Order: sequence, then structure tokens, then C-alpha cells
Amino acid sequence: MKFSKSILGLAIAGAMSVSAAQAGEVEVLHWWTSGSEARSIAVLKQMVEAEGHTWKDFAVAGGAGENAYTVLRSRAVSGNPPASAQIKGLEIQEWGDLGFLANLDDVAAANHWDDILPPVVAKVMKNDGHYVAAPVNVHRVNWLWANPEVFKKAGAKVPTSLDELWVAADKIKAAGYTAIAHGGQPWQDATTFESIVLAVGGSDFFDKVFVKLDQKALSSDTMKESFDQFRKVKEYIDAGSPGRDWNVATAMVIKGEAGMQFMGDWAKGEFTAANKAPGKDFICAPFPGTDGEFTFNIDSLAMFKQKNADNAEAQKVMAKLILSPKFQETFNLNKGSIPVRIDQDMSPFDSCAKASMKTFIATSKAGKGLEPSMAHGMSATSTVQGAMYDVITEFFNSDMSSEDAVKKLTRSVKAAM
Ligand code: BGC
Repeated sequence: MKFSKSILGLAIAGAMSVSAAQAGEVEVLHWWTSGSEARSIAVLKQMVEAEGHTWKDFAVAGGAGENAYTVLRSRAVSGNPPASAQIKGLEIQEWGDLGFLANLDDVAAANHWDDILPPVVAKVMKNDGHYVAAPVNVHRVNWLWANPEVFKKAGAKVPTSLDELWVAADKIKAAGYTAIAHGGQPWQDATTFESIVLAVGGSDFFDKVFVKLDQKALSSDTMKESFDQFRKVKEYIDAGSPGRDWNVATAMVIKGEAGMQFMGDWAKGEFTAANKAPGKDFICAPFPGTDGEFTFNIDSLAMFKQKNADNAEAQKVMAKLILSPKFQETFNLNKGSIPVRIDQDMSPFDSCAKASMKTFIATSKAGKGLEPSMAHGMSATSTVQGAMYDVITEFFNSDMSSEDAVKKLTRSVKAAM
């Protein structure tokens, strides 16, 4: 059958006007502003735009999202939340319970999310049994990032226990380097502290303290020992630490000014963006004393209910794209994390990502050693997390004794529960 040119023209014009009517806008609030983070989120923007929708970027700088969350609250309170926001862990439940989030069950069913997502990830994305957020990645928090050149010059070996850590740190310090690149912000203090708790007490203890908020565990000698070890970090950081952003601390390791950094694998994104190769230019190792354990931090974009039908459609398209193998690969290669899909081809990924995936799968299967990160909002409500941040940071920046820190933490957590 042949169509006349004019009929064909009309048909094309018709099709275009349908897609024009369906083109929507997604405004996305996030805090991915460092070099590697911006590269990562740009992948989603390109993919959304390639589908004919408009991306409205709403980036609020500030590691771990402290600033972004404040902005989100004020936008939501004024009845004007963005279409999507980077929200994590229990915070998703809090927004869902308040009735702000859109139901993504149809996208999830059509794209088999229940089959491709590990249960631990799917659980975080659901509120009251319904999908309300799309996961972009799994970050492992308990990592150590080392500059091999600095370690070599100092005659130090990459530590596998806390005892070895202090030996290595002494050597690096004696060789004239900053041993530990630390950014002095509450969430960064908490990131280091929770890894120390995991090293000192193990994953069952970690679970009691940060997930179950068990008063006995919180007030235990193991907790006191954790604070003692945490205090030692102060001996090895530089005077510029207070207020420093995490990626600036990573740059100190990249440039060979510092020996190591304790940070989740978003730090690897910065090494990759600087064209550094694992095993050669930098080393990734489990935080000393936590080999075989995995503190997870899942990034996700939660979707807010939309009044405009086209924008709601664009939001669903974005949710679908997020779980696509292509997005999962490109985003996570840039971001330093691992994909959330259990069927993802890991061959394009580096040795750190492969090691991370291996530990993630092993701990999930064993039902042991996979713990939600408190510092990154996975284990407790934002109120409890805030109470913990306050004590950890106050301890780190004062001469408060470990005994007092334990007492204060136990009290504050109880009050915040
Ligand atoms: C997020 C990461 C982010 C990091 C620093 C973490 O809480 O999960 O995606 O790169 O904060 O901003």
C-alpha cells in the first residue's frame, strides 16, 4: 500500500504533536556536585532528554545531602516539591508516610524490579509495600583509599587491622605527609566513626548499635573502645581538616599530599575522573578490620506526586531509565559504586567494583556482614542520625572523654527514638 505524501505528512505531524503533548519536565533535586558526581548525574539528564523530556536540574551542594534535605523540606512545605529528589533509606519512608510520594508499581511491574533488585535494595525503595523510589546504585562505605607512592616512601603497608592502621599512620606522619586526609564535617566524622565501630565490635555489634539502637550495646565498653580508637584519628589529620569537603580530602590522596582517606566508594569516582587506575595509582582496601563486611549506602531518586500528567509520565520514563542496564553501567562507572541489578554485566567494571560486588553478594547470601550505614541514612531515622552526628562530632572536636561520649550518645539516642 502506498501513502500519498500529504497523508504521510499529516501522519508524521500527528505523531509529532502526540509526542509533543506527552513531553514533560522532570525537576531533579540532588547533591551530586563534585566532578565525578556531576559526570554521573549528567548521564541521566542525557537519557531523559533523549526521550524527548526536559530536565530541570536542581543541584544543592553539600556532601551527604545535609543542605539538599533542608531545601527539599522547604519546597515540600510550600506545596511545590520537585518531581524527583535524591532521598535515601529511612527518609524515603518518612516522605512516603506523609503522602508526598508517587506510586511506581506499574513501572516496577513492567520492568520486573522485584526480580532484578536484591531484596535489601527493593525493601528500601518501597513504602507500605509500594515502589516510590528508583535506586541508582549501591555504595560501599567501609573503604580505605591509599596512595601507594606515599605508602612506599614511608615504608608503610596497607593496614588490615586497626593496630596496623596506627603503625602505618605513624610511618606516614614521620615521613612528612598528612597520614589521614579527613574532611571535618559531621557526616564525614560519622562515616569514619561507624567504620571504626564495625572494626572494633563486628557486624552483630554494629547492628545492635546503629539499627536496633540497643541501649546495652550503646553504653558498652566496646562503644567506649570505639571512641578511644576514633580519637586516635585526630593525631594524623592536618590543621585544614575542619569544614573540608570530602572530595578535597580525596584530592589530597590523589596528589600524594596525604597517605589515605576513609570514605565510601564515591571517592573512587574522583580517582577515576582524574584518570587514576586502581592497583597502580591508588589502592582500595576494606576499612582496616572490616574485610568481608559491607556497610551499604543506596542512592535513589524518590518521585513526588505530580499534578501535571505529562510531567508524571516523564517521571515514569526516568524511573524506567534508571533501572536500565545502560544507565546502571555508565552511571556507576563514573560514580564509583556498583549497579543495583543482580543480572548486570560486571565486566566493564574495575577491580574495586568487582571486589565490592563480591562482598555485597557474599554478605547478602550469608545473611551476615551486610549492614546499613548510619552515617548515610540507611539504618535509623533522620532524628536518630542527627543525634548521633552531634555526639560524634562534638567528641571529635573537643576533649570530651570516651566515657562521657558513650553516656551522651546513649541518652541522646534514647531521647530521639
Ligand atoms: C551519597 C553519595 C555522595 C556522597 C557525597 C553520600 O551520602 O550517597 O552519592 O556521593 O554522599 O556527597
